[in-house]
Amino acid sequence: MKNFISVNDVSDIDALVQKALKYKSDPFKDKNIGTNKRIGLLFLNPSMRTRLSTQIAAQNLGMEAIVFNVTQEGWLWEFEDEAIMSGTTVEHVKDAAPILGKYFDILAIRTFPSLQNRDDDYSELYIKQFIKYAGIPVISLESSTLHPLQSLTDMITIKENFSAKRKPKVVLTWAPHVKPLPQCVANSFSQWINAWGETDFVITHPEDYELDEKFTKGASITTNQNEALRNADFVYVKNWSTYKDYGKIYCNDPAWMLTNEKLKLTNDAKVMHCLPVRRNVELSDDILDSNHSIVTQQAANRVWAAQAVINEILRSNG
Ligand code: CP
Repeated sequence: MKNFISVNDVSDIDALVQKALKYKSDPFKDKNIGTNKRIGLLFLNPSMRTRLSTQIAAQNLGMEAIVFNVTQEGWLWEFEDEAIMSGTTVEHVKDAAPILGKYFDILAIRTFPSLQNRDDDYSELYIKQFIKYAGIPVISLESSTLHPLQSLTDMITIKENFSAKRKPKVVLTWAPHVKPLPQCVANSFSQWINAWGETDFVITHPEDYELDEKFTKGASITTNQNEALRNADFVYVKNWSTYKDYGKIYCNDPAWMLTNEKLKLTNDAKVMHCLPVRRNVELSDDILDSNHSIVTQQAANRVWAAQAVINEILRSNG
């Protein structure tokens, strides 16, 4: 594995899931593989889980992890080639990334979308410029359109919570929110679930919240949430803003919030969310505080997902 930007960087999803689960049962089994190596974690946006779990994962493999909060502590970066830098940006990624490539063995970067211009966001300029100029492996800690470490975690969590000899029914449901959010988690979850092929996958959302077909192709899609929830084994709850008329909130009907009453339609489903979650807006207290919720287990699994990915990159890149 050279970089980890999307599911397309993974040759065998199931093998990566198994690798992560092995780390869960024996976190320090490869504690020397990263000796004398350094990973730089670059944050252009806030984070709790991704930041801490990736540091812990690197340290479990013997690596030193250094966090750089770029927008709070560093110079403002320019990403456009041939930009005339007479505005607010101070240093071009073309100059900064090769330096970081000399300081570190792996770089990991979080860059959210602007939600202003779809073409710009979906071009993934920031992370592509990093890959182009850093000269070392790059891991996405969430980019403009995808969140692959979250999605790997989600596959791991589904795997360890389902043992029946059939495919689980997994439902991704849109949920209300107070502000427009990126499509990253929903795009990425759809892309991974479809590539994994181990589930019956249904997406449900109100009209106007269609995601990019590039990621959802292969899923059943319905605007009838109750129909979608019927006999579900897992319900993944997530808000996203509109994709077509980009970055907007249209319908924000509170009736779309998942409740214990709606869960009666399911096969006693486990409920997932990437977190952070707005309680009683996206998901009700009665679910989050019940045995249906596996959100803490899911977030804890972020360590093992990151550890499996860093191990793959260390092994592939010497
Ligand atoms: N799920 C997730 O990425 O959490 P953070 O934003 O806290 O890293």
